[in-house]
Amino acid sequence: MVSGKLVPATPDEDELWRLAVRTLDGNWEHDHTAPSRTLYPHQWSWDSAFIAIGWAHVHPDRAWTELTSLFDAQWRDGRVPHIVFNPAVPVDAYFPGPGFWASAAVDGAPRVATSGLVQPPVHALAAWHAYRRAPSESGRAALGRLYPRLVAQQRYLATHRDVGGAGLASIVHPWESGLDNSPAWDAPLAAVPAEVAALGAYRRRDLAHAAAAHRPTDLDYARYVAIVTAYRTAGYRDDGLADEHPFLVECPLFNAAMGAAEHALAGIAGEIGADPGPHTERAARITTALVNRLYDPTTGTFHPRDLRTGRLTPARTVLGLTPLLLPDLPARQVEAIRVEAVSSRFGLATRMPRPLPSHDRTAADFEPLRYWRGPSWMNINWLVRHGLLGHGHTELAAGLRASMIELATTAGCHEYFHPETGVGLGSPAFGWTAALLLDVLATPDR
Ligand code: SER
Repeated sequence: MVSGKLVPATPDEDELWRLAVRTLDGNWEHDHTAPSRTLYPHQWSWDSAFIAIGWAHVHPDRAWTELTSLFDAQWRDGRVPHIVFNPAVPVDAYFPGPGFWASAAVDGAPRVATSGLVQPPVHALAAWHAYRRAPSESGRAALGRLYPRLVAQQRYLATHRDVGGAGLASIVHPWESGLDNSPAWDAPLAAVPAEVAALGAYRRRDLAHAAAAHRPTDLDYARYVAIVTAYRTAGYRDDGLADEHPFLVECPLFNAAMGAAEHALAGIAGEIGADPGPHTERAARITTALVNRLYDPTTGTFHPRDLRTGRLTPARTVLGLTPLLLPDLPARQVEAIRVEAVSSRFGLATRMPRPLPSHDRTAADFEPLRYWRGPSWMNINWLVRHGLLGHGHTELAAGLRASMIELATTAGCHEYFHPETGVGLGSPAFGWTAALLLDVLATPDR
């Protein structure tokens, strides 16, 4: 087992720290960390970013190995694939596996098998966090090697994926949002032609490890498969997206992460002797576009924009709070997010019984057990805490932190949690829950 410095202050926190380290260590796989040995036995893109933040506290060399192995699978066009398949894992351990994605047939894909989709670009933010948690010469060298790859990742998103032409990146699949079955995607997904019968050719592997009531439905999966099939048939090329692709959405979290990445790259550039200026300029443009395109003054929150209809999607999900990540978000939107977050929809408070749910608690389609339709997730809570701290809402950030620690103290390092009872759901030994707990434990309220 990996030993770690013991930052926590109480016996409970001390025990939690050790559980989190044990969880990460149990999922470590020579050059990356599996999110879960059962449900997600390969390497996932945004998981690796969050996991690197945790490793920085106990084993910084693993933080750099984690990010480096992910970026070793970067495509020639700059995209960082959302899954990098571990060749040592049986091909039928996860669906859709390497044969379904068929990346080997694509010019510009790496030698290792990967998916053809991306995930929220939280990697520059994670790299910068990891470095500041554990600054060292070898860390600076790793940052220097990652920097051009992080820049290429941003360039891919800002060019190939700016389908709407307004300076935001589009996602082409709900899996790219990271919040697969969020109610945010119900409207655009409903327009994707698919039948459950089409799933007949495949076998979902997730249901061997988690209850069907806690996962996306078969109809969701039929649509997920249909959208990947369309993209794969187009050779994962982005030039025909506007005309032909069935799912095309500008997501507030994805774009807030893209803006936060430019801020982080400015910091990294300063540290390694590159020019921060272009990053600061790009960050400002992304924030302006995000406010212009995705903020709805009538609801007072951010919504995804469906490029197929031109309309904002109506659901008020936790995605709406995530632009708080942007340090240059205008005061009006910061205040609107605070109001939305402290409302009964999300329940943010200086003393709160549970962390934020993934969906509006008061909505008719709130489902407390089903994946991203209600349960609480540590990564989203970590991102919102980071945003609250960045905008000076230290007492609310402290309330959120305490609720995260309390939840894990009683329920452990589960993948997600019932947002009212706190019961652990999904994988019981989940990488980013463990990693972000370490970070939260190690960074008491400031
Ligand atoms: N989150 C997806 C799954 O559940 C993959 O990205 O398998």
